[in-house]
Amino acid sequence: MAPYDDFAWFYNRYWNEEYHSLAFPILERIWLPRIAPQAHILDVCCGTGYLAALLAARGYSVTGIDASATMIQHARENAPAAEFRVSDAADFRLPAPCDAAVSTFDSLNHILTPEQLEAAFRHTAAALKSGAPFVFDMLREEAYQTHWGEAFALVRKDHLLTITGAGYDFRSRLACCHITMFRLLDGLWQRSDVEIQERCHTPAEIDAALRHAGFGEILCHDARDLGMAGDLGVGRSFYVATRE
Ligand SMILES: C[S@@+](CC[C@H](N)C(=O)[O-])C[C@H]1O[C@@H](n2cnc3c(N)ncnc32)[C@H](O)[C@@H]1O
Repeated sequence: MAPYDDFAWFYNRYWNEEYHSLAFPILERIWLPRIAPQAHILDVCCGTGYLAALLAARGYSVTGIDASATMIQHARENAPAAEFRVSDAADFRLPAPCDAAVSTFDSLNHILTPEQLEAAFRHTAAALKSGAPFVFDMLREEAYQTHWGEAFALVRKDHLLTITGAGYDFRSRLACCHITMFRLLDGLWQRSDVEIQERCHTPAEIDAALRHAGFGEILCHDARDLGMAGDLGVGRSFYVATRE
């Protein structure tokens, strides 16, 4: 099972709108102007398809890949016009190359070694036409040192969730948080527990991995400079790289 399988129902209900209401205007500014109308876009680690639906509504054709089959089930409901596959970002192939790629909400921080990150970039590059722009966001140490994994609770009549941060380890550059969820289903409370791990890849590692994978013209922007306010913008960088 993928870590997001058990979290998918809560993620789909509570985690999409706030982030994408801030991120989509950024994509409209730094990435979409480089993409032709009706182009074919690859969404790497597409989650529950919220972004795929926004892009499909603007006339793009979208293929999303994600490691979690349950996140993909939601994506198929949320964006019926898009195509989705359950695949590891570090090991996937598409039948035809795409015109652009995107990966949002620090999805690539979920890849836990520099080697796997490079593999994810390599497979993304292989799925793109020459000149295609690839936009993604990643968290820097500032984010892991401050609000990431802060204690959080959500209590409703028939579901509840708690998030407990387990801190950031400076040596391994790994951060971890525990999520405990309860849902009342057919009169019985069902509990599930998930651990989400992320790695803070350094700017030098990201740059080297992109170049080894076949990307150039790498631009990096601080999310706050692009107008992403609040905790979501803290320690977040948006990259745009071009497939050579
Ligand atoms: C924070 S969510 C972001 C989802 C979506 N990109 C969004 O913007 O809402 C991270 C997603 O990355 C996926 N993921 C993590 N590691 C992955 C991997 N190695 N390959 C593919 N998907 C992965 C998870 O299953 C999850 O759906």
